[in-house]
Amino acid sequence: MKTQRLGPADVPLAAAILRGGGLVAFPTETVYGLGGDGLDAAAARRIFLAKGRPADNPLILHAADALSARRLTRDWPKAADRLAAAFWPGPLTLVLPRAAVVPDEVAAGLDTVAVRVPAHPLALALLLALGRPVAAPSANRSGRPSPTTAGDVVEDLEGRIEAVLDGGPTGVGVESTVVDLTVRPPRLLRQGGLAQETLEAVAGPLADPSGGEPVRSPGMKYRHYAPRTPLLLAADGQVAALLAAHPEAAALLTDESVLAVGRRAGPVRRLGPRGDAAAQARALFAALRELDRSGAPLIVVESVPEAGLGRAVMDRLRRAAGKR
Ligand code: TXA
Ligand code: MG
Repeated sequence: MKTQRLGPADVPLAAAILRGGGLVAFPTETVYGLGGDGLDAAAARRIFLAKGRPADNPLILHAADALSARRLTRDWPKAADRLAAAFWPGPLTLVLPRAAVVPDEVAAGLDTVAVRVPAHPLALALLLALGRPVAAPSANRSGRPSPTTAGDVVEDLEGRIEAVLDGGPTGVGVESTVVDLTVRPPRLLRQGGLAQETLEAVAGPLADPSGGEPVRSPGMKYRHYAPRTPLLLAADGQVAALLAAHPEAAALLTDESVLAVGRRAGPVRRLGPRGDAAAQARALFAALRELDRSGAPLIVVESVPEAGLGRAVMDRLRRAAGKR
Protein backbone atom coordinates (compact mmCIF):
# COMPACT_ATOMS: atom_id res chain seq x y z
CA MET A 1 0.00 0.00 0.00
CA LYS A 2 1.23 3.51 -0.82
CA THR A 3 0.24 6.12 1.76
CA GLN A 4 -1.59 8.98 0.00
CA ARG A 5 -0.62 12.58 0.88
CA LEU A 6 -3.78 14.65 1.25
CA GLY A 7 -4.26 18.39 1.79
CA PRO A 8 -6.99 20.52 3.37
CA ALA A 9 -9.13 20.34 0.20
CA ASP A 10 -9.22 16.53 0.49
CA VAL A 11 -11.22 16.28 3.74
CA PRO A 12 -14.19 14.65 1.90
CA LEU A 13 -11.82 12.01 0.46
CA ALA A 14 -10.27 11.43 3.90
CA ALA A 15 -13.77 10.94 5.36
CA ALA A 16 -14.60 8.49 2.55
CA ILE A 17 -11.48 6.46 3.34
CA LEU A 18 -12.50 6.31 7.02
CA ARG A 19 -16.07 5.34 6.04
CA GLY A 20 -14.64 2.46 4.02
CA GLY A 21 -12.73 1.12 7.03
CA GLY A 22 -9.36 2.70 6.10
CA LEU A 23 -6.91 4.62 8.28
CA VAL A 24 -6.09 8.32 7.87
CA ALA A 25 -3.59 10.28 9.95
CA PHE A 26 -4.72 13.85 10.58
CA PRO A 27 -3.52 16.92 12.49
CA THR A 28 -4.94 17.90 15.86
CA GLU A 29 -3.80 20.91 17.88
CA THR A 30 -1.60 18.60 20.00
CA VAL A 31 0.01 15.98 17.72
CA TYR A 32 -1.03 14.05 14.60
CA GLY A 33 -3.57 11.28 15.26
CA LEU A 34 -3.86 7.91 13.51
CA GLY A 35 -7.58 7.89 12.75
CA GLY A 36 -10.06 5.14 12.11
CA ASP A 37 -13.86 4.93 12.38
CA GLY A 38 -14.38 5.04 16.14
CA LEU A 39 -17.38 2.71 16.16
CA ASP A 40 -15.81 0.06 13.92
CA ALA A 41 -14.02 -2.76 15.75
CA ALA A 42 -12.14 -3.83 12.61
CA ALA A 43 -10.75 -0.29 12.11
CA ALA A 44 -9.59 -0.28 15.74
CA ARG A 45 -7.79 -3.59 15.22
CA ARG A 46 -6.06 -2.11 12.16
CA ILE A 47 -4.91 0.89 14.23
CA PHE A 48 -3.25 -1.39 16.80
CA LEU A 49 -1.58 -3.32 13.99
CA ALA A 50 -0.33 -0.22 12.12
CA LYS A 51 1.18 1.26 15.29
CA GLY A 52 2.48 -1.99 16.75
CA ARG A 53 0.53 -0.97 19.86
CA PRO A 54 0.01 -3.33 22.81
CA ALA A 55 -3.62 -4.54 22.74
CA ASP A 56 -4.20 -3.47 26.38
CA ASN A 57 -3.67 0.23 25.63
CA PRO A 58 -7.03 1.88 24.80
CA LEU A 59 -7.64 4.56 22.15
CA ILE A 60 -9.06 8.08 22.52
CA LEU A 61 -12.34 8.75 20.70
CA HIS A 62 -12.46 12.17 19.04
CA ALA A 63 -15.83 13.87 18.63
CA ALA A 64 -16.96 17.06 16.85
CA ASP A 65 -18.63 18.52 19.94
CA ALA A 66 -19.41 17.79 23.59
CA LEU A 67 -22.86 16.36 22.83
CA SER A 68 -21.39 13.80 20.42
CA ALA A 69 -18.71 12.94 22.99
CA ARG A 70 -21.37 12.49 25.67
CA ARG A 71 -23.20 9.88 23.54
CA LEU A 72 -20.10 7.67 23.82
CA THR A 73 -20.42 7.59 27.61
CA ARG A 74 -22.86 6.00 30.08
CA ASP A 75 -22.57 8.65 32.73
CA TRP A 76 -21.82 12.33 32.32
CA PRO A 77 -21.14 14.01 35.66
CA LYS A 78 -21.43 17.76 36.25
CA ALA A 79 -17.63 17.95 36.24
CA ALA A 80 -17.66 16.75 32.61
CA ASP A 81 -20.02 19.59 31.65
CA ARG A 82 -17.84 22.14 33.40
CA LEU A 83 -14.59 20.89 31.89
CA ALA A 84 -16.08 20.51 28.41
CA ALA A 85 -17.49 24.05 28.56
CA ALA A 86 -14.17 25.47 29.76
CA PHE A 87 -11.68 23.54 27.62
CA TRP A 88 -13.31 21.98 24.51
CA PRO A 89 -12.39 22.10 21.77
CA GLY A 90 -8.93 21.70 23.23
CA PRO A 91 -6.12 19.49 24.57
CA LEU A 92 -8.12 17.73 27.31
CA THR A 93 -9.24 14.07 27.31
CA LEU A 94 -11.91 12.87 29.73
CA VAL A 95 -12.18 9.24 30.89
CA LEU A 96 -15.80 8.26 31.62
CA PRO A 97 -17.95 5.12 31.85
CA ARG A 98 -18.19 3.61 28.37
CA ALA A 99 -21.46 3.42 26.39
CA ALA A 100 -22.39 0.15 24.66
CA VAL A 101 -21.83 1.65 21.16
CA VAL A 102 -18.08 1.84 21.80
CA PRO A 103 -16.36 -1.34 20.59
CA ASP A 104 -14.37 -3.41 23.12
CA GLU A 105 -11.32 -3.03 20.87
CA VAL A 106 -11.34 0.78 21.19
CA ALA A 107 -11.50 0.61 25.00
CA ALA A 108 -9.08 -2.34 25.16
CA GLY A 109 -11.72 -4.18 27.16
CA LEU A 110 -12.03 -1.50 29.88
CA ASP A 111 -15.42 -0.36 31.17
CA THR A 112 -14.39 3.25 30.50
CA VAL A 113 -13.76 5.34 27.39
CA ALA A 114 -11.50 8.33 26.74
CA VAL A 115 -13.12 11.17 24.76
CA ARG A 116 -12.02 14.56 23.49
CA VAL A 117 -13.01 17.36 21.09
CA PRO A 118 -9.86 18.49 19.26
CA ALA A 119 -9.22 22.16 18.46
CA HIS A 120 -7.89 21.90 14.91
CA PRO A 121 -9.94 23.03 11.93
CA LEU A 122 -8.96 20.00 9.81
CA ALA A 123 -9.72 17.54 12.62
CA LEU A 124 -13.13 19.15 13.18
CA ALA A 125 -13.84 19.25 9.43
CA LEU A 126 -12.99 15.56 9.19
CA LEU A 127 -15.23 14.67 12.16
CA LEU A 128 -18.12 16.65 10.67
CA ALA A 129 -17.65 15.15 7.20
CA LEU A 130 -17.63 11.62 8.67
CA GLY A 131 -20.50 12.25 11.09
CA ARG A 132 -19.07 9.65 13.49
CA PRO A 133 -16.40 9.64 16.20
CA VAL A 134 -12.80 8.95 15.16
CA ALA A 135 -10.55 6.70 17.22
CA ALA A 136 -7.04 8.14 17.13
CA PRO A 137 -3.90 7.41 19.09
CA SER A 138 -0.85 9.51 18.28
CA ALA A 139 0.28 8.62 14.74
CA ASN A 140 3.72 7.22 15.67
CA ARG A 141 4.94 3.64 15.77
CA SER A 142 4.45 2.51 19.37
CA GLY A 143 7.14 3.83 21.71
CA ARG A 144 8.45 6.55 19.33
CA PRO A 145 8.14 10.31 19.79
CA SER A 146 4.70 11.55 18.73
CA PRO A 147 4.47 13.15 15.27
CA THR A 148 4.04 16.91 15.01
CA THR A 149 4.27 17.07 11.20
CA ALA A 150 2.91 14.98 8.31
CA GLY A 151 6.54 14.10 7.52
CA ASP A 152 6.96 12.57 10.99
CA VAL A 153 3.85 10.46 10.36
CA VAL A 154 5.25 9.23 7.04
CA GLU A 155 8.60 8.43 8.70
CA ASP A 156 6.82 5.96 11.01
CA LEU A 157 3.76 4.77 9.08
CA GLU A 158 4.46 4.90 5.31
CA GLY A 159 2.78 1.89 3.71
CA ARG A 160 0.85 1.04 6.89
CA ILE A 161 -2.04 3.53 6.52
CA GLU A 162 -4.15 4.68 3.57
CA ALA A 163 -3.48 8.42 3.87
CA VAL A 164 -2.12 11.35 5.82
CA LEU A 165 -3.91 14.69 5.85
CA ASP A 166 -1.24 17.41 5.95
CA GLY A 167 -2.16 20.45 8.01
CA GLY A 168 1.36 21.69 8.72
CA PRO A 169 3.13 21.52 12.10
CA THR A 170 0.88 21.16 15.15
CA GLY A 171 0.60 24.08 17.57
CA VAL A 172 0.77 22.52 21.05
CA GLY A 173 3.30 19.78 20.39
CA VAL A 174 2.55 17.43 23.30
CA GLU A 175 -0.50 15.17 23.65
CA SER A 176 -3.69 16.06 25.48
CA THR A 177 -3.97 16.06 29.26
CA VAL A 178 -5.94 12.97 30.38
CA VAL A 179 -8.27 13.15 33.40
CA ASP A 180 -10.23 10.26 34.92
CA LEU A 181 -13.68 11.50 35.95
CA THR A 182 -14.85 8.09 37.21
CA VAL A 183 -13.15 8.65 40.58
CA ARG A 184 -13.49 11.32 43.30
CA PRO A 185 -11.50 13.50 43.24
CA PRO A 186 -10.78 13.27 39.51
CA ARG A 187 -7.37 11.79 38.78
CA LEU A 188 -4.80 13.25 36.43
CA LEU A 189 -3.69 10.28 34.30
CA ARG A 190 -1.36 12.09 31.89
CA GLN A 191 0.24 15.51 31.96
CA GLY A 192 -0.31 17.17 28.60
CA GLY A 193 -1.16 20.21 26.52
CA LEU A 194 -3.59 21.67 29.05
CA ALA A 195 -1.58 22.81 32.08
CA GLN A 196 -2.49 21.18 35.40
CA GLU A 197 -2.79 24.63 36.99
CA THR A 198 -5.33 25.76 34.36
CA LEU A 199 -7.28 22.53 34.67
CA GLU A 200 -7.40 22.64 38.48
CA ALA A 201 -8.74 26.18 38.39
CA VAL A 202 -11.95 24.64 37.01
CA ALA A 203 -11.83 21.01 38.25
CA GLY A 204 -10.51 21.66 41.74
CA PRO A 205 -7.49 19.74 43.09
CA LEU A 206 -6.76 16.53 41.16
CA ALA A 207 -5.28 13.29 42.44
CA ASP A 208 -1.98 12.74 40.64
CA PRO A 209 -1.07 9.70 38.53
CA SER A 210 1.44 8.29 41.00
CA GLY A 211 -1.33 7.32 43.42
CA GLY A 212 0.21 3.93 44.20
CA GLU A 213 -2.71 2.10 42.59
CA PRO A 214 -2.48 -0.29 39.67
CA VAL A 215 -1.78 1.64 36.43
CA ARG A 216 -5.09 3.26 35.51
CA SER A 217 -3.95 4.64 32.17
CA PRO A 218 -2.45 1.59 30.54
CA GLY A 219 -0.41 3.64 28.06
CA MET A 220 1.68 5.16 30.81
CA LYS A 221 3.39 1.94 31.84
CA TYR A 222 5.44 1.53 28.66
CA ARG A 223 8.74 3.17 27.66
CA HIS A 224 7.51 5.88 25.39
CA TYR A 225 8.28 8.95 23.31
CA ALA A 226 11.76 7.56 22.80
CA PRO A 227 14.27 8.17 20.04
CA ARG A 228 16.29 5.09 18.96
CA THR A 229 19.45 6.80 20.24
CA PRO A 230 20.07 6.46 24.01
CA LEU A 231 18.91 9.60 25.83
CA LEU A 232 20.26 11.10 29.05
CA LEU A 233 18.17 13.65 30.90
CA ALA A 234 20.56 15.99 32.73
CA ALA A 235 19.62 16.80 36.31
CA ASP A 236 19.04 20.47 37.02
CA GLY A 237 22.27 22.44 36.59
CA GLN A 238 24.22 19.39 35.33
CA VAL A 239 23.86 19.75 31.58
CA ALA A 240 27.18 21.55 30.95
CA ALA A 241 29.13 18.90 32.86
CA LEU A 242 27.32 16.07 31.08
CA LEU A 243 28.02 17.61 27.68
CA ALA A 244 31.69 18.09 28.56
CA ALA A 245 31.88 14.39 29.46
CA HIS A 246 30.22 13.40 26.14
CA PRO A 247 31.62 15.71 23.43
CA GLU A 248 30.07 13.72 20.54
CA ALA A 249 26.61 13.69 22.08
CA ALA A 250 23.73 15.53 20.44
CA ALA A 251 22.30 18.21 22.71
CA LEU A 252 18.76 19.49 23.21
CA LEU A 253 19.02 22.70 25.21
CA THR A 254 17.18 25.83 26.23
CA ASP A 255 18.21 28.89 24.22
CA GLU A 256 20.14 30.23 27.22
CA SER A 257 22.21 27.05 27.47
CA VAL A 258 22.90 26.98 23.72
CA LEU A 259 24.70 30.28 24.22
CA ALA A 260 26.39 29.22 27.46
CA VAL A 261 27.68 25.92 26.07
CA GLY A 262 29.12 27.46 22.90
CA ARG A 263 30.53 25.47 19.95
CA ARG A 264 30.66 21.71 20.23
CA ALA A 265 31.35 18.63 18.09
CA GLY A 266 27.87 17.08 18.35
CA PRO A 267 24.69 18.61 16.89
CA VAL A 268 22.68 21.05 19.00
CA ARG A 269 18.97 21.83 18.85
CA ARG A 270 17.03 24.52 20.70
CA LEU A 271 14.06 23.80 22.97
CA GLY A 272 13.19 27.49 23.24
CA PRO A 273 13.67 30.01 26.05
CA ARG A 274 13.99 28.49 29.54
CA GLY A 275 10.92 30.36 30.75
CA ASP A 276 8.70 29.50 27.76
CA ALA A 277 7.22 26.04 28.39
CA ALA A 278 4.78 26.38 25.48
CA ALA A 279 7.68 26.87 23.06
CA GLN A 280 9.49 23.88 24.61
CA ALA A 281 6.41 21.67 24.20
CA ARG A 282 6.06 22.73 20.56
CA ALA A 283 9.72 22.00 19.77
CA LEU A 284 10.19 18.81 21.79
CA PHE A 285 9.19 15.87 19.58
CA ALA A 286 10.45 17.27 16.27
CA ALA A 287 13.80 18.05 17.91
CA LEU A 288 14.09 14.51 19.33
CA ARG A 289 13.35 13.02 15.90
CA GLU A 290 15.88 15.31 14.23
CA LEU A 291 18.64 14.51 16.74
CA ASP A 292 17.79 10.82 16.35
CA ARG A 293 18.46 11.14 12.59
CA SER A 294 21.75 13.00 13.19
CA GLY A 295 23.65 9.78 13.90
CA ALA A 296 25.08 11.02 17.22
CA PRO A 297 25.68 8.12 19.67
CA LEU A 298 23.84 9.79 22.56
CA ILE A 299 21.30 12.55 23.10
CA VAL A 300 21.72 14.78 26.18
CA VAL A 301 18.69 16.85 27.15
CA GLU A 302 18.49 19.71 29.62
CA SER A 303 15.80 19.61 32.33
CA VAL A 304 13.26 22.44 32.20
CA PRO A 305 11.21 24.00 35.02
CA GLU A 306 8.26 21.79 35.98
CA ALA A 307 5.39 24.27 35.82
CA GLY A 308 2.62 24.70 33.26
CA LEU A 309 3.38 22.73 30.08
CA GLY A 310 6.86 22.12 31.52
CA ARG A 311 5.27 19.26 33.50
CA ALA A 312 4.30 17.49 30.27
CA VAL A 313 7.72 18.20 28.73
CA MET A 314 9.54 16.66 31.72
CA ASP A 315 7.13 13.70 31.83
CA ARG A 316 7.88 12.90 28.17
CA LEU A 317 11.63 13.36 28.68
CA ARG A 318 11.72 11.01 31.68
CA ARG A 319 9.88 8.35 29.70
CA ALA A 320 12.14 8.91 26.68
CA ALA A 321 15.09 8.36 29.01
CA GLY A 322 13.47 5.09 30.07
CA LYS A 323 12.48 6.27 33.54
CA ARG A 324 8.99 6.40 34.94
O1 TXA B 1 -3.46 14.68 22.12
C1 TXA B 1 -3.79 13.49 22.12
O2 TXA B 1 -4.34 12.96 23.08
C2 TXA B 1 -3.47 12.67 20.87
C3 TXA B 1 -4.30 13.25 19.72
C4 TXA B 1 -4.18 12.44 18.46
O3 TXA B 1 -5.62 13.38 20.11
N1 TXA B 1 -3.77 11.30 21.08
C5 TXA B 1 -3.03 10.51 21.91
O4 TXA B 1 -3.45 9.20 21.97
O5 TXA B 1 -2.07 10.92 22.52
P1 TXA B 1 -2.54 8.02 22.58
O6 TXA B 1 -3.28 6.79 22.24
O7 TXA B 1 -1.18 8.14 22.09
O8 TXA B 1 -2.65 8.24 24.11
C6 TXA B 1 -3.88 7.99 24.79
C7 TXA B 1 -3.65 7.86 26.26
C8 TXA B 1 -2.89 6.58 26.60
O9 TXA B 1 -2.02 6.84 27.68
C9 TXA B 1 -4.03 5.64 27.02
O10 TXA B 1 -3.60 4.63 27.89
C10 TXA B 1 -4.98 6.62 27.69
O11 TXA B 1 -4.92 7.78 26.91
N2 TXA B 1 -6.37 6.10 27.69
C11 TXA B 1 -7.17 5.88 26.64
N3 TXA B 1 -8.35 5.35 27.04
C12 TXA B 1 -8.29 5.25 28.38
C13 TXA B 1 -9.19 4.76 29.39
N4 TXA B 1 -10.38 4.28 29.08
N5 TXA B 1 -8.76 4.80 30.68
C14 TXA B 1 -7.55 5.30 31.01
N6 TXA B 1 -6.66 5.76 30.10
C15 TXA B 1 -7.02 5.73 28.80
MG1 MG C 1 0.82 8.02 21.95
